[in-house]
Amino acid sequence: MRTQVAIIGAGPAGLLLAHLLHRGGVDAVVIETRSQDYVAARIRAGILESSSVELLESVGLGERLRAEGHEHRGIYLQMPGERHHLDFVDLAGRSVWVYGQTEVQKDLVGAGTAEVHYEVTDVALHDVDSARPYVTFADSSGAARRLEAEVIAGCDGSFGPSRAAAAPADFFERVYPYSWLGILADVAPSTDELIYAWHPNGFALHSMRSETVSRLYLQVPNGTDPADWPDDRIWGELATRLGDGEDGWKLTPGPVTDKSVLPMRSYVQTPMRHGRLFLAGDAAHIVPPTGAKGLNLAIADVTLLSRALVEWLKAGDTRLADSYSDDALRRVWRCTHFSWWMTTMLHTSGDPFDAQLQLAQLRWVTTSTAGATGLAENYAGPPIGF
Ligand code: APR
Ligand code: PHB
Repeated sequence: MRTQVAIIGAGPAGLLLAHLLHRGGVDAVVIETRSQDYVAARIRAGILESSSVELLESVGLGERLRAEGHEHRGIYLQMPGERHHLDFVDLAGRSVWVYGQTEVQKDLVGAGTAEVHYEVTDVALHDVDSARPYVTFADSSGAARRLEAEVIAGCDGSFGPSRAAAAPADFFERVYPYSWLGILADVAPSTDELIYAWHPNGFALHSMRSETVSRLYLQVPNGTDPADWPDDRIWGELATRLGDGEDGWKLTPGPVTDKSVLPMRSYVQTPMRHGRLFLAGDAAHIVPPTGAKGLNLAIADVTLLSRALVEWLKAGDTRLADSYSDDALRRVWRCTHFSWWMTTMLHTSGDPFDAQLQLAQLRWVTTSTAGATGLAENYAGPPIGF
């Protein structure tokens, strides 16, 4: 098999890159280890920055987003006895959109612009330092295949082979001392916009997927077994932490349809290029979900990468390809810092001194225009390619 760009991974990064390259007249082939149904059903992120929405709209992927997504002006920050709304449009001139990653994936698959080989195995990258890199794998029938390309794009997430193939590299990692217990519930959200809550018991987040599906999270210790959290225990703790009963606000429980525990960690691998191998999305970086940045970083990476590869492979101009890693890492580190800042401000450690620092910072952010604008600018996100 031969193509111009071999893309490893059919998550948001890989599929969007294939779509953008197709629009730029560059051939690409995507290989994916999981089944199409598995990838489509993976429940992950749910917030799109305005710049992500604008990018998706600009390449024909905005129709269902605009029709079924929900534009939010901001978020609520909650502390015991206090709830404050931060209006990002007033503060930073930008909104955010609630639109599940599964919906973005559905739109990308629906675009039909990517040749994807699902359920491949034994993927290996070869000669990434040469002008003729290639990927070997076994296809879904078990047949050995060799995909020759001019460039390989590693969009295979945090556990794929591309990260190792991009070595030697610098690797920055932070593992947080807590996890999130996340639920999906068939119940109308009890709030119009997301509530991020600080509570002595731990952090809680009320998000949503639609008018009838709520998405909520609780800070729990690492290693928590979801089986130790029956639905009524979850709803009771969410009610406590989110301020149920304060100012007449009620949290409405409902049937839980999905329950999972996800650890909180952050890493960045630099540079995001090695020879003819380019990394994008979770293959290059992971952020804790507190800042809702993972999906948006993947979109920003492949927007820059697609422009670089079209310039190189269509016009022979390598300037954007040569600066891709530095260009992408500016946003990666900005978002990594913001995700760290939101995470350490909102998650309790049991240390009373830390708790007072967190409350002081939350009171500053919710009463000072300067503090609120800082959060708004980062949460709503900078323009792509800043
Ligand atoms: N060969 C082929 N595909 C692979 C391999 C492999 N060896 N290893 C992993 N993959 C696939 C995974 O099955 C997954 O579908 O690569 C894809 C990576 O997709 P994501 O993990 O979604 O990462 P990315 O596309 O960068 O999206 C990042 O979306 O998934 C969220 O939390 C993530 O919000 C972040 C954003
Ligand atoms: C979600 O809806 O899944 C979500 C929203 C905001 C976050 C994290 C997750 O910060």
